[in-house]
Order: sequence, then structure tokens, then C-alpha cells
Amino acid sequence: MSTRSVLAWSAVLVALAAVLARDRFFFFFSADSVCRTIPIDAAWPSTTAWGRLNETVDGKLIATVPIAAPCHKTLNGEPNSLYDEERCAVLRDTWFLPETHLESPSSPMSYLFSNDTCNPWSGPDTPCTTGTDAVYVINATEVSDIQEGVRFATENNIRLVIRNTGHDYLGKSTGAHSLSIWIHNFKSTELLQYSSSEYTGPAVKMGAGVESLEAYKFAASHGLVVAGGNCPTVALAGGFIQGGGHGPLASKYGLAADTVLEMEVVTPTGDYVIASPKENTDLFWALRGGGGGTFGVVTSATVKAFTDTYGSTASMMVANTGANADALYSAIGGLIQKALPGLVDAGAFVVWIVAPFGFMISPAVAPGLTSAELDKLMQPMIDILKGAGLEYQYSSAQHKTFLESFESYSQATSWNVSDYNVGGRLIPRALALERTDELVGAIRHISTTAFMSGVSYNVASADAGGGAAHPYFRETLFGLALGTPVNYTDWGATLAGQGRITHDLIPALARLTPEGGAAYLNEANFEQSDFQRTLYGENYERLLAIKRKYDPKSIMYARTAVGSEEWEERGDGRLCRVK
Ligand SMILES: Cc1cc2nc3c(=O)[nH]c(=O)nc-3n(C[C@H](O)[C@H](O)[C@H](O)COP(=O)(O)OP(=O)(O)OC[C@H]3O[C@@H](n4cnc5c(N)ncnc54)[C@H](O)[C@@H]3O)c2cc1C
Ligand SMILES: *[C@@H]1O[C@H](CO)[C@@H](O)[C@H](O)[C@H]1NC(C)=O
Ligand SMILES: *[C@@H]1O[C@H](CO)[C@@H](O)[C@H](O)[C@H]1NC(C)=O
Ligand SMILES: *[C@@H]1O[C@H](CO)[C@@H](O)[C@H](O)[C@H]1NC(C)=O
Ligand SMILES: *[C@@H]1O[C@H](CO)[C@@H](O)[C@H](O)[C@H]1NC(C)=O
Ligand SMILES: *[C@@H]1O[C@H](CO)[C@@H](O)[C@H](O)[C@H]1NC(C)=O
Repeated sequence: MSTRSVLAWSAVLVALAAVLARDRFFFFFSADSVCRTIPIDAAWPSTTAWGRLNETVDGKLIATVPIAAPCHKTLNGEPNSLYDEERCAVLRDTWFLPETHLESPSSPMSYLFSNDTCNPWSGPDTPCTTGTDAVYVINATEVSDIQEGVRFATENNIRLVIRNTGHDYLGKSTGAHSLSIWIHNFKSTELLQYSSSEYTGPAVKMGAGVESLEAYKFAASHGLVVAGGNCPTVALAGGFIQGGGHGPLASKYGLAADTVLEMEVVTPTGDYVIASPKENTDLFWALRGGGGGTFGVVTSATVKAFTDTYGSTASMMVANTGANADALYSAIGGLIQKALPGLVDAGAFVVWIVAPFGFMISPAVAPGLTSAELDKLMQPMIDILKGAGLEYQYSSAQHKTFLESFESYSQATSWNVSDYNVGGRLIPRALALERTDELVGAIRHISTTAFMSGVSYNVASADAGGGAAHPYFRETLFGLALGTPVNYTDWGATLAGQGRITHDLIPALARLTPEGGAAYLNEANFEQSDFQRTLYGENYERLLAIKRKYDPKSIMYARTAVGSEEWEERGDGRLCRVK
């Protein structure tokens, strides 16, 4: 053998040994500690151990029952004493309302993430199982409840889920075989005269479970407003602010994350800390836009409050008759080019909808503008409709306070949360204005078969607050969110609708921004490829370093959250490390 071939062979042998060692290493760990423990495992805590956890949280531990259990004769394979046709009928009638799932400790609003394991419409003889719901939930009301939950999950190698309202479109507040910490009942509100080197003025400190409308009402009782959501029941200091958070005051005060002064947090190592411009500044940055469910459990946020003022709202409707479709889509291009920039630059927030039925603005909200001023900003759109001979309905109104504005439309526009699979994309102003025809082509392709909404705002000039929200927000004219319907009697059709989002509808928009496009992490497709770049942009590496610092054992996992690429969900729902 020549020297060279000996060298070559030894190189092969070294490589082989390395591969074998790595495989052994993997084999050794993949037995259990590389995967989270699930109820069928010997290592799953005994009933006595769960009972001890229950004692440490003063009896607040709940053994989960799927919300649609009354519709089934069996539950997890056993006869089901909860079976009750009347209760089932009530549940079906209210299924689409956020409130139905809001009061449940475990039901996801997005039906896809229930995995169809306890379907309210499939009939009493079909099975109902815990499925992807958490197995146990701590109905937390105190910091120590959260700390005990984090400790128990860590010691017992159990998947940990943080749930607030359950609104998440990406299934981030749901997890099979998990222990969940339910933060919904952190409902305190307090008015502060805040003073720091960054800000002096009124502020509202709110518990993490406080919802948009609750915060608006509290602020209004002091003549103030806070930046919240367009949906009355999203929890502000939960996934909303932690993901960025846009709403009716966005064009005036920025993303809700931009208004945060400080937060209280239980870290994944169980420490209770303050995150602010002075303390744990890296965590404070990450929690203002870097996404919920991964850096820690926020128990409160203190946000800037602003003086309340009058404002106005408007709405519009144009039906798609088929015959008028070309003119209608061309008018939508006109709206994008000629009306939206002026509206959002004047402080308005505009939600428009395109679907097979036609086009709607529902609503345009203009804080601090009279209805005459709002009508004037809408005029370019009205001129386009008149010019094209399109029939439309338009109305506007003026309101004394922000809360009055909000309440004038919020009930009418809450769409059926449980009934859609969702995806989304942020559309930069340059694309919207310079390549309008291409963009309208994509919108038409999508909205002839799917439901689509454009949420328009200008947060470019807002005090960006220095948070981790995707930098792309600052150049965004609107976010597009699209939905394909859930079919409760045909799970295959529901999955196919989700597939269409991933393989057809979102790509139709992504194609317009081939390099560096983005999506809002709270209104994105959970199957988004390259989610790190798309949902977090250039912030990802820094966010990942912060995640590893505060969560060295990777205790907190949520789909598409920072650090989630270290885990994969197997077919049976078991969570396992990828590397
Ligand atoms: C009908 C509807 C309307 C919406 N309207 C808007 C809107 O106007 N503007 C907007 O920006 N978004 C909107 N969203 C998206 C919304 O911001 C997200 O769904 C958001 O994740 C909701 O947060 P949540 O805490 O209420 O929900 P959850 O589903 O309970 O939680 C969402 C995520 O945040 C995590 N989380 C929750 N609480 C905490 C906490 N205290 N600490 C750490 N992590 C936590 C969860 O683990 C999960 O990852 C809407 C969604 C729906 C369904
Ligand atoms: C926890 O304790 C409370 C009060 O004793 C009890 O009602 C509840 O059923 C217990 N939870 C579980 C999961 O056993
Ligand atoms: C989800 O559904 C699939 C198909 O019915 C099933 O194989 C799988 O076990 C389910 N996962 C969970 C966690 O329920
Ligand atoms: C959770 O706790 C609150 C009180 O903090 C209580 O009102 C509510 O009924 C509890 N929910 C469940 C499902 O146990
Ligand atoms: C919401 O669901 C209810 C009940 O299923 C239905 O009557 C209503 O038309 C739905 N609304 C929308 C906007 O889908
Ligand atoms: C759901 O699927 C069933 C079976 O494929 C079909 O008959 C029904 O029309 C579908 N429902 C909706 C609302 O699309």
C-alpha cells in the first residue's frame, strides 16, 4: 500500500469512527431526554406527583377536558359522563365566537390545531380525545403559580405551553402532552404617573390577561387611550405586544410594542425579573416584538397612555357581481395607490376586505380627525368608484371618544375566529405604489377563492421604541392576512385548504418580494419556510442569543418561535430535539 492510500484509508476510518460515535451519542440520548416525556411513558409523573404540584399552586391545577366533550359518548376511550346533547347544541351555536374558547383553559381558537380529535360536529359515536390540548393546566393567578409550573415542567422533562386567550393563529398556545400555564386571569389594571429618563407621563400597568377592550375601558375611565388591538379580546401584554401588535391607534402611536415602558417576567429558569431600559435590557428588547411563548412568562406590562380625543370612522362596501370584477379590482389598485397612503399618513388605520362577495372597508378609524376630514381622505377612492360606474355604499361618523369609535364597529367586524386557516404577508409601501398591477393580480388570484384582509397603517415615523419587532414594519403600508375555510365535516378539505395557503396563496404574494420579504409573526402561515428570516428578519441571531441566555435548557417552545428549530413535533405530538 502506498503512503497516500494509507493516509486515505485512515481518513476514511477516522470519519467512520466519528459517524459511529455520533450515532451512539444520539442513540444514548434519543431514548428519552432528547424527547419530552408524554403520558404513555414510564417517566410521566404519577397522579401523586401531579397532586403535589396541585398543592403548591393552591388547588389551581386543572385536568383538561376537551371543550367539545359534551358532543361525544366516549372520552379518551372511556364512557363519557359529560355527554349532553343540549350542551353540545349550545356549543355549536357559539363555536365561532372568541368568547367560547377564551373561557376554556385549553381550546385553541384556530381549529386546525385541535387536530380534529374532538369535533363538535362529527356525531356522538365518533371518538373524542385530549389530542393536542395540554394535559394539565395551571389556572395561574400569582407569580409563584408560574414558577411552580416552570419548575415542575423542567424537573419532569414535560413540554411547557403558555396560554393566554388562545387567539394564536399559528397554534403557539396549544401543545400535545403538555403542562400549560394559563395567564388569562392576570387581570389587574393600575394608572401610574410614570417617570423615567425615557418618559414622563401617564401610564397603565396591566396584568398579562387584560384584553384590548378591557384596557380601552380602563384607560377611558381616566380620559386616556392605550395602543391595543382591533380585536376586543386579544390580550395586550400576551402574544399581541410580544409580537409587535397593530391596532386602530397604530398610525398615531406606533406598534403597541413601541409604547411599552417595562414588563414583569418569570424567566424560563424560574426567576421573577423586571425587563426595562435599565434592567435586563436584552430581554426587554426581545419581548417587544420578538414573539410570545419563548423568552419568559410576562405577568404585566406598563405602557404609555395618551390623552383621549374625538375621532371618526368610515365603512364602504362594493359587491362583486362577476360582470364588474375587472373594474372592481382596478378600483382596489386605485385605493392602494391614491387613498391608503394619505389615510395612514394622516393617522388613520384602515382595514379592508376582499373576498368572493366583493370589497369592504370595515372600518377606517381616524383618531383626532373629524368625519369631514376623513371623508376628504376617502374622496380619491369614491372618485375612482364613480368614474368606473361601480355601485357602492359609504358611510362615516364622528365620535366623541376613542372608545366610542371602537365600540361603533368592533362587534360588527369580529369574524369567525375558529373557521379559518390563516396566512399573511407584509406589503411594503414601495411595492404597493410602484408595482400596483402585479400586487392587485396576486390579490385577485387569492381573493377569488379565499378571504383576505388588508390592515393598513403607518408606523414608520412612530417612536420605534427600540424593540425587536420586524424592521419591515417601518416600511409596511399594509399587512395582508388571508384565510381558507375550515370544513368541520371534512378534515381532509381543511388540510387541503391549509396546503393551498402554503403552496399557492402565500407564494403568490412572496413572489413579489423575492428577496427579504416579511410576514407579521402573529398573522403568518405556521408552515412558513425560512421562518427565521421571514418573521424576524435581521433580528433573528440576536434574538436567538437572548433566548439561549434566558432559557439555557430550552424549556419554552412554540411553533415558529425563536429557538423552535431545535425541536420537532413527531406525528404522535411528541416534542423531540433536532440537534
Ligand atoms: C380574531 C383575531 C383578531 C386579531 N386582531 C389583531 C389585531 O388587531 N392586531 C394584531 O396585532 N394582532 C391581532 N391578532 C393576532 C394576535 O395578536 C395574536 O393571535 C396573539 O398571539 C394573541 O395573543 P394572546 O396572548 O391573546 O393569545 P394566545 O394564543 O394565548 O398566545 C399567543 C402567543 O403568546 C404567548 N403568550 C401569551 N401570553 C403570554 C405571556 N403572558 N407571556 C409569554 N408568552 C405569552 C403564547 O405562548 C403564544 O405563543 C388577532 C387574532 C385573532 C384571532
Ligand atoms: C387540584 O385541587 C383542587 C382543590 O383541591 C381540586 O378541586 C382539583 O380537582 C385538583 N386538580 C387535579 C388535577 O387533581
Ligand atoms: C393527530 O391526528 C393524526 C391523524 O388522525 C393522528 O395520527 C395523531 O396521533 C394526532 N396527534 C395527536 C397529538 O393527537
Ligand atoms: C380560574 O381561576 C379563576 C379565579 O382566579 C376562576 O374564576 C375560574 O373559575 C378558574 N377557571 C377554571 C376553569 O377553573
Ligand atoms: C359565523 O358563524 C355563524 C354560525 O355558524 C354564521 O351564522 C355566520 O354567518 C358566520 N359569519 C361569518 C362572517 O362567517
Ligand atoms: C364540507 O365537506 C363536505 C364533504 O366533502 C361537503 O359536502 C360540504 O359542502 C363542505 N362544506 C363546506 C362549507 O364547504
